[in-house]
Amino acid sequence: MELILDTADTQAIAYFNEYLTLDGVTTNPSIITKSGKDFNVVVNEILAILNDEQDLYVQVLSTTCADIVEEAKYIASLRKDNPERMYVKVPVSNEGLKAIKEIKKLGIKVLATAIYTAEQGFLAALSGADALAPYVNRMCNFGDGVANTIALQNMLDINMMEAKIVAASFKNTDQVHKLIENGIQAVTVPTDVLTNMMNHPATDTAVDAFTADWKKAYGRTSLV
Ligand code: G3P
Repeated sequence: MELILDTADTQAIAYFNEYLTLDGVTTNPSIITKSGKDFNVVVNEILAILNDEQDLYVQVLSTTCADIVEEAKYIASLRKDNPERMYVKVPVSNEGLKAIKEIKKLGIKVLATAIYTAEQGFLAALSGADALAPYVNRMCNFGDGVANTIALQNMLDINMMEAKIVAASFKNTDQVHKLIENGIQAVTVPTDVLTNMMNHPATDTAVDAFTADWKKAYGRTSLV
């Protein structure tokens, strides 16, 4: 299972990259704007943090097929030394689905995004998308986002399709937990959800108690 961070906050990326094993970083236009930085600056800063095995996902903004394809070429050029690790994110609008077929002819890796139904994800996979991002939490406004993501996974498995699911749009750890438990290939999580996955107050309490017991007995806070 791949663990991906859904942010363009370079401080957060560096932090979690130090403490956890991350497979990459996803961004979208809204996430990029939150960084307050120029697009090229923030992409280059993220690339400077990632190693050669970590993926970066960058989304197009245009909405017509021809313009989406041009933006995909530009995004791909930002990591031309490591094309296998650079995904262009394309929303699954009608124009987006058409563009995915064109972008794949260019050999550029594509993640189909803004997926709200299993059917949309399946169609994007048929069009050649390498990865699919169902918006789990947002889907919950229309039904069960976790169940629909698992349904998409089953559709891909039964049809022996290679597209990988990068489940996205999480608001709590339970949504992530349920998908990992069901064998999801990848999750991209925002920093607040990942922080909650890492931490439990009882762990700190336990560590404090170990330290206090040791100090009382031996007068120091280390083993030797
Ligand atoms: O990666 C897609 C994701 O960023 C959407 O998340 O929280 O805006 O629903 P959210």
